[in-house]
Amino acid sequence: MAPLAAQPAGRFRRTPHHGSLLLLFFSLGWGQPWQAQAGEAGQEAALPDQVLANVSSFASLPPGLLGGFTCAEVSGLSTERVRELAVAVGQKNVTLRADQLRCLAHSLSAHGVPGDLDAFPPDLLLFLNPAGLEGPGACARFLSRISEANVDLLPWKAPERQQLLAAALACRAVRGSRVSAADVQALGGLACDLPGRFVADSAEVLLPRLAGCPGPLDQDQQEAARAALQGGGPPYGSPANWSVSTLDALQGLLPVLGPDITGSIPKGVVTSWLRRTFGNPSWQRRPELTEVLPPRFRREAENVTCPLGREVRVVDERLVFYKEWELEACVDGALVAAQVDRVNAIPFTYEQLRVFKRKLNKIYPWGYPESLVQQLGSFFLTMSPQDIRKWNVTSPPTVNALLSVSKGRNADAQVAALIARFVSGGGQLQGDTLDALAGFRPTYLCSFGPAQLGAVPPTVIWAVGPQDLDACGPRQLGVLYPKARLAFRNVSGAAYLEKIRPFLGGASTEDLRVLSRQNVSMDVATFRKLQTEAVVGLTVPEVQKLLGPHAGGLAAEQSSRPVWDWILRQRQDDLDAMGLGLRGGVPNGYLVLELGRQPRQVEADGPDPPSPPEALSGGRCLLGPGPVLPATLTLLLALAPH
Ligand SMILES: *[C@@H]1O[C@H](CO)[C@@H](O)[C@H](O)[C@H]1NC(C)=O
Ligand SMILES: *[C@@H]1O[C@H](CO)[C@@H](O)[C@H](O)[C@H]1NC(C)=O
Ligand SMILES: *[C@@H]1O[C@H](CO)[C@@H](O)[C@H](O)[C@H]1NC(C)=O
Ligand SMILES: *[C@@H]1O[C@H](CO)[C@@H](O)[C@H](O)[C@H]1NC(C)=O
Ligand SMILES: *[C@@H]1O[C@H](CO)[C@@H](O)[C@H](O)[C@H]1NC(C)=O
Ligand SMILES: *[C@@H]1O[C@H](CO)[C@@H](O)[C@H](O)[C@H]1NC(C)=O
Ligand SMILES: *[C@@H]1O[C@H](CO)[C@@H](O)[C@H](O)[C@H]1NC(C)=O
Repeated sequence: MAPLAAQPAGRFRRTPHHGSLLLLFFSLGWGQPWQAQAGEAGQEAALPDQVLANVSSFASLPPGLLGGFTCAEVSGLSTERVRELAVAVGQKNVTLRADQLRCLAHSLSAHGVPGDLDAFPPDLLLFLNPAGLEGPGACARFLSRISEANVDLLPWKAPERQQLLAAALACRAVRGSRVSAADVQALGGLACDLPGRFVADSAEVLLPRLAGCPGPLDQDQQEAARAALQGGGPPYGSPANWSVSTLDALQGLLPVLGPDITGSIPKGVVTSWLRRTFGNPSWQRRPELTEVLPPRFRREAENVTCPLGREVRVVDERLVFYKEWELEACVDGALVAAQVDRVNAIPFTYEQLRVFKRKLNKIYPWGYPESLVQQLGSFFLTMSPQDIRKWNVTSPPTVNALLSVSKGRNADAQVAALIARFVSGGGQLQGDTLDALAGFRPTYLCSFGPAQLGAVPPTVIWAVGPQDLDACGPRQLGVLYPKARLAFRNVSGAAYLEKIRPFLGGASTEDLRVLSRQNVSMDVATFRKLQTEAVVGLTVPEVQKLLGPHAGGLAAEQSSRPVWDWILRQRQDDLDAMGLGLRGGVPNGYLVLELGRQPRQVEADGPDPPSPPEALSGGRCLLGPGPVLPATLTLLLALAPH
């Protein structure tokens, strides 16, 4: 099933909300410049250390080397040498990453905006502050260069983008929110950032530009565009008069059409446009199109009748040559369900599989029966976690089969949902299944009970990443922590902390003490996730050692758990010695007595979240020199930060 390989399954998620449809479009390739750029960066030859410093003429370097420099290298060069580098990059058409451009621009503008802007690559100008431009015509020149640049190197909504837009509008002497066709032309990619009021006041010139913008429109822009389109003014006129070519021209504006607009477009126009669109290969790269379409369009897409002679009675290879709309019109859901093994054996495209999936979902809106799940094979990769959560999965061979088709297919979320279903139905994972799981992100661990966690092999423990255990409770982490400590015994220092961090919610006081001796420099965010019972047993020097340079961060967290619970158990003297201004420790002159495990019930309403009486109900309690416990508690409460 070669076509599947290129499609990360995680990208195909149903999103019913209108706002997220835009994001969807965006994720389907309309944001391509950024992705492509990140991809290229990884392939460029790295510039060996010192080459920049030693080479006499940058122009003599091959483009691959020229584009491989790092920020550190640039900072070692004189402004004049940086200028030469920037010019050479421009002459050789070398494409740089945003971080490289930012470094060059930073070095170049050490003494104000450099004069000879024309010599530099246009992309570099995006990172210069236009506020420093001097002289008549300078800004116009700057702007004309910017219009050749790839504005999308600057992230959507980045301050630099907004600064450029403001400078560009000032340069064009735009007042209010009216722009001319010439303004829009001069703004280049920046025109896509013009806020909604410009869209409202300059719809005629701006809408055609917005239709071609690579990124999503923001809420304001969408609303203004929708109102303008509905108003029926130029350039598109009344929706009742739209033609197929109008729909073609609307491109990026299609998702903003509301039901009022789609309802007034002539029905025949919509139908012919859909037919053409579904048969057109360039649109097939946007498999979510049918889901992005406004509901009326979608209904029409689903209601096209099957052309004569194309009726389908059996799932076979011929169907590979069917267009999606033909599959939609000619294939029956019950047929797909009955012959799902054949679907799985034929190399359908991802888009075609999605049509089949829609057919199945229509007959099984409450989830597929297990007999069907068993036969899904690679078809499983088109399923979303939401789909999977509706299934019953009780057979280990089903799990193993689905795991084996998911391997290397970026299907972690689907696998997690599958395992959760299996485990919640009482299924027990055997050794071979657990081994197969080592290839996936182990977010599924949190759906295991303690007994199953006990059987998790070290390979799976090694696969745990930073957020994978966020959904686990203390009991689960209590089982996982010792396993992790054992698994990671060959790592130390910062690397050890990095690996063990997700498991720390299961660490005991003694474990933390050991960690504190290992110079791990735990950050406060990690500290906050530790178990209160484990933290309160630590002394001030132990916590200081555990956090190392991060200890200062405790001050900001002193009223949250478990920091507050810990502070309550410390001597104020010791806390004062930290020099962080932590308050709430045991006042000087009071004794801290170990009373063993004697439970102590104290009725008092503490501040919430910090709840001193609860914190005191553990192993230790306080005894004043004369007064009894209640008085001490009152005192503590008075000291608590409110
Ligand atoms: C660059 O020059 C320095 C000093 O002139 C020299 O030590 C170093 O080996 C040179 N590096 C390369 C890669 O030529
Ligand atoms: C760089 O690109 C421009 C326009 O794309 C072209 O005219 C020029 O010849 C190219 N220069 C080099 C050195 O490839
Ligand atoms: C549609 O176009 C025709 C001719 O071009 C025009 O007479 C008519 O007024 C338009 N209808 C609307 C609703 O704009
Ligand atoms: C679909 O087409 C059939 C027959 O052509 C028609 O009766 C039905 O109303 C249509 N449904 C929708 C939702 O347009
Ligand atoms: C899953 O099992 C439950 C209980 O047996 C049943 O009610 C439900 O319909 C099943 N769901 C599916 C999708 O088979
Ligand atoms: C530690 O052991 C694991 C396997 O047990 C191995 O994958 C890892 O590379 C080792 N790490 C170090 C730093 O030796
Ligand atoms: C921790 O750091 C201290 C001082 O920086 C050093 O003396 C000690 O050996 C280190 N301990 C470990 C386990 O690295």
